[in-house]
Parts: sequence; C-alpha cells; structure tokens
Amino acid sequence: MPMLNDPETSRLTGSATVFEPAKVRAWYASRGEQDDRLDLAVVERATGAVVGEVVLNEWDEPNGACSFRICFVPGTFGRGLGTEATRLVLAHAFETLGLHRVSLEVYAFNPRARRVYEKAGFVAEGVLRGALLWEGERIDATVMSVLAPEWRHHRGRPEETVPATAS
Ligand SMILES: CC(C)(COP(=O)(O)OP(=O)(O)OC[C@H]1O[C@@H](n2cnc3c(N)ncnc32)[C@H](O)[C@@H]1OP(=O)(O)O)[C@@H](O)C(=O)NCCC(=O)NCCS
Repeated sequence: MPMLNDPETSRLTGSATVFEPAKVRAWYASRGEQDDRLDLAVVERATGAVVGEVVLNEWDEPNGACSFRICFVPGTFGRGLGTEATRLVLAHAFETLGLHRVSLEVYAFNPRARRVYEKAGFVAEGVLRGALLWEGERIDATVMSVLAPEWRHHRGRPEETVPATAS
C-alpha cells in the first residue's frame, strides 16, 4: 500500500487510481492464477522485505511481444535494485519465455526510470506527444523497447558491451 498510494509514485506512473486495501489484496492474491501475464514481487535478499514489483503484461502471443512495468516502494530507490530487477526480468523474457520484443512507455518527468531502462538495454523508439494529462499539464511519453537480438548481444549491459558491427 505505501507503494500504491504514494503521491509521487502515482505521478511517475501516471496513475490517478486510489487503491483500496481489500481490492489490492484480492488483486495480488489472484496473480498466481493468471496465465497471460507475469506479476512478480521483488524481495531484497538482505532483509527479506518486499521492495517492489515487476510485471510482464499485454502479452501479444503471435508477435512474441509484451510490455514491462516496474514499481518500487518509496525509500528503496537509488540502490541499484531497479536496474538489477529489470535485467533479471528481461533475461527471463528473452532466455526463458523466448519473447522477441519487450516494450514500455516512460513519462518525460521520470528521468530516473528512463536511465534504468537505458542501462538495461531499452532503446527509445519515439515520443507519444502529450500522452498524459497530469494536473493540467500535458506530458510526453517515450516508447522504449528491447529486441531479442539486442539482448543476445549485450544481455542487459549495453554500456559495457562493444556495439555490434553491421555485416
Ligand atoms: C524507476 C525505479 C524502478 C528505478 O529503480 P531504482 O532502484 O531507484 O533505480 P537504480 O538505483 O537501479 O538506478 C537509478 C539510476 O537513475 C539515475 N538517476 C536517479 N535520478 C535521476 C535523474 N533525476 N535523472 C537522471 N538519472 C537519474 C541514477 O543515478 C541511477 O543511474 P546510474 O546507476 O547510472 O548512476 C524506481 O525508482 C521506482 O519504482 N520509481 C517509482 C515508480 C516508477 O517511476 N516506475 C517506472 C514508471 S515508467
């Protein structure tokens, strides 16, 4: 609940929903029954505490594509956990599930998330101009994706990998 009803997190994820505890409990209790999406809790090894969630959803089976979302509990940011979790989920998406494309949208007022996505290999594809209306302001969203051949090349560490040469 601290994650879901945090005002800053709501802004960064563009969610105006007010979450009710009973509905949230029912939602998380039903995650294991879903066969078209993957909702995972992120647990910090050192403490055993749940620090966030990562999700593969909007599965497009014919095209081997899905969307990615991530959200951490306020107070856990900036310790590398988001980057590590993103890389782990992408590894699962490409190496276990055999997906071809994982994509997301990130708002212009969220440079921290964008940095995490770039570090893990997401590439900006284009801008959805004025996609979000937030407190009277129109906010752009950038579409980003990772494709399977890119993943095979850098495995989530594009900045530490020599770029592929065209042949
Ligand atoms: C986005 C989120 C998952 C990232 O997880 P995290 O654990 O905080 O991220 P990390 O510590 O792994 O990495 C943060 C990176 O962003 C950088 N960063 C932090 N603030 C930044 C800013 N204002 N501008 C640019 N980069 C920034 C950090 O320096 C770090 O990069 P570096 O390793 O190159 O130094 C987490 O902050 C979160 O849940 N935020 C709220 C919800 C949200 O924004 N979800 C995504 C919606 S698209």
